[in-house]
Amino acid sequence: MIGLCDWPEPVVRVQSLSESGKRTIPDRYIKPPSDRPSLINSSPPDINIPLIDLSGLTNGDLAVRESTLKEISDACREWGFFQVINHGLKPELVDGAREIWREFFHESMEVKQRYANSPKTYEGYGSRLGLQKGSILDWCDYYFLHYLPSSLKDHNKWPDKPSSLREVVEEYSKEIVKLGNVLLEVFSINLGLKHDYLQNVFGGGDVGACLRVNFYPKCPQPDLALGLSSHSDPGGLTFLLPDEDVSGLQIRRGEEWITVKPVRHGIIVISNAIYKSVEHRVIVNPNKERVSLAYFYNPKADLLIHPAPELITPETPSRYPSMTFDDYRLFIRTKGPQGKSQVESLKSQS
Ligand code: OGA
Ligand code: NI
Repeated sequence: MIGLCDWPEPVVRVQSLSESGKRTIPDRYIKPPSDRPSLINSSPPDINIPLIDLSGLTNGDLAVRESTLKEISDACREWGFFQVINHGLKPELVDGAREIWREFFHESMEVKQRYANSPKTYEGYGSRLGLQKGSILDWCDYYFLHYLPSSLKDHNKWPDKPSSLREVVEEYSKEIVKLGNVLLEVFSINLGLKHDYLQNVFGGGDVGACLRVNFYPKCPQPDLALGLSSHSDPGGLTFLLPDEDVSGLQIRRGEEWITVKPVRHGIIVISNAIYKSVEHRVIVNPNKERVSLAYFYNPKADLLIHPAPELITPETPSRYPSMTFDDYRLFIRTKGPQGKSQVESLKSQS
């Protein structure tokens, strides 16, 4: 593959820029006016994404289970974004996973640089997405790793400091995948498909699961930059563990950007390909850093992705060409957060 060998420009760690104490940010982080967050015009304080208690799926009461399924169905259709509580992950595990990553980002630069990533795989410690020379960058460093398929999991590519990180990430990953399996079953049922339909077409036990931990350092000019440009996630579904006390995630609702208010120990679910894959972005903060864990639960990389035949009708035809998840993901990896929109341009060629 040409062009994926190295970054087009020397890598600058956003955390180093932030810690330099400069009161202004370099030009290449300054968004054009139309993309800047309008901090004054933020969303009405009383709107939030749906909050769903997943204990309703398993507490044995059929009526409660039905109404929980319905809540999830409505949330997928109307929002594409919801928060879940009583999701099966222990509060200590949720907090532990977030805080161990915060500690990682506060390790010395020397420790972090040992894991510096390249655009070939994206695995490791990174500071940009996309390979276009001269593009405007986001105010964020990240760490990207694979959990599934097991052939891609390599503990040596996970940080060895703090010393318990690998163990905690292993446990957190296992529980997130379980939650993914539960939700795929719920989505299948809600779509009128066989309960194991989506799990099977995602590859059965061979799904993809990868984690991007985002670290948004303090930004002296938060009105000019974004932590993460607007995008919609490419995969099947995303489990986002937000920072406990710093908000920043916004989702698009019509012309407005709504700031998501996280619930303690809750996990934000972003239902992607199956329903509407909602545009979202992250704003940054002058006084506080922010850590989030985005777990992407994806179809097996080499399976051809296409709509369920049962759901294709003359009124709802297939809208995109079939392609593998690997090919699809390349759009984002080479073109940056908004690369996905260019898949549309393939339509005519299909
Ligand atoms: C992502 C993402 C949001 C956040 O990593 O895809 O949307 O709150 N993250 O960091
Ligand atoms: Ni996202």
